[in-house]
Amino acid sequence: MTAKLTIATIVGARPQFIKASAVSTAIQARPDIDEIIIHTGQHYDANMSDVFFEELGIPRPAHNLDVHGGSHGAMTGRMLEGIERLLMDVRPDTVLVYGDTNSTLAGALAAAKLHIPVAHVEAGLRSFNMRMPEEINRILTDRVSDWLFAPTEEACAHLRGEGVAGDRIHNVGDVMFDVALLQGARVDAAGGALGRLKLAPKSYALATVHRAENTDDPQRLSNIVDALIELAKRVPVVWPVHPRTRGILARTDRWADAERAILIVDPVSYLEMVQLEKFAALIATDSGGVQKEAFFHGVPCVTLRDETEWTELVDAGWNRLAPPMSRSTMVEAFDAALGSQGEAIAPYGKGDAAQTIVQHLVNAGGK
Ligand code: UD1
Ligand code: UDP
Repeated sequence: MTAKLTIATIVGARPQFIKASAVSTAIQARPDIDEIIIHTGQHYDANMSDVFFEELGIPRPAHNLDVHGGSHGAMTGRMLEGIERLLMDVRPDTVLVYGDTNSTLAGALAAAKLHIPVAHVEAGLRSFNMRMPEEINRILTDRVSDWLFAPTEEACAHLRGEGVAGDRIHNVGDVMFDVALLQGARVDAAGGALGRLKLAPKSYALATVHRAENTDDPQRLSNIVDALIELAKRVPVVWPVHPRTRGILARTDRWADAERAILIVDPVSYLEMVQLEKFAALIATDSGGVQKEAFFHGVPCVTLRDETEWTELVDAGWNRLAPPMSRSTMVEAFDAALGSQGEAIAPYGKGDAAQTIVQHLVNAGGK
């Protein structure tokens, strides 16, 4: 009997639970693989973590390092130490990491130093803005990874441009597209968040804001609040507020203005989020994942950032970039986006990214 392939999956932040749900489901269908899930603890509120494991059927993490908060160096360092200790004990064939958070970098670095092959899901994305912590995390993670599972052809081109050998790069499609197809089919307009918040389909806008470059800059954050208040004069705006943003905004005098004009709610579960996205007239966000989900569900999007990694959606007219330097730039983008549609494009694969990733790992025997 051949030994089973052991994969250690490192997750920690909300979008990673959602991405891992697709791959973990594909792994669970394979009797020849054991998966050990390590949760760094980066996100820890029930509505930022547990809810996704329950709703998306992700196996419970075997370990939770309970590392969160602090500076980037402190957080990443504590994760690195904890993950290294577990990997020395488990000795997996492969370590699987997702995206571009501090949990991603800590997992990749711990594994690479122990000479355990690293597989990076969502490899090759670039904003070309080194002031973003995510850009540093993704470049370093790609550098030490053995398998670079890229979501698009453009991401592959970035990696080739950086001199990465072609046999390490695999355009497998986007695991978030897999999840959107699977879970999007479970959601209709009845009940759920729409019922609770008394929202009619296609009559409201959905907003999310959490990027450090927006939350930690008082002027940008204030401009975003102003722009969303202006948008709320056109359509009701529902805003599930990330705890980082609530923690900063609730201490300012803009919070009361925002609460008066905007339907501010706590973070919602993935299925509730998909429902809110699918039936929105417009999405305004600085989230990487939400930009793409807007497109998956055919909803126009305005991205509240200076640049985006997902440029194909801007090129096709699904997404508009509105740097939060000025309120009017954002409001003009909202007005242009409302009622608009982009071109039909299919850059994110066929919805089988997770299965393709697992097959690659099995074929290579984890080595
Ligand atoms: C992190 C990622 C970011 C990703 C985002 C997804 C890094 C550098 N950033 O940003 O790339 O887009 O997750 O949401 O890894 N907090 C809570 N409860 C929680 C989680 C966070 O209260 O469950 C608060 C804490 O005050 C915490 C702050 O939010 O200090 C920021 O959390 P952190 O994980 O450091 O960064 P995010 O902004 O969530
Ligand atoms: N999401 C969610 N509930 C919310 C807000 C977001 O389930 O209240 C989901 C969203 O649908 C997407 C993912 O979280 O799948 C995006 O995570 P986030 O915006 O935190 O991070 P990013 O994608 O920017 O890294």
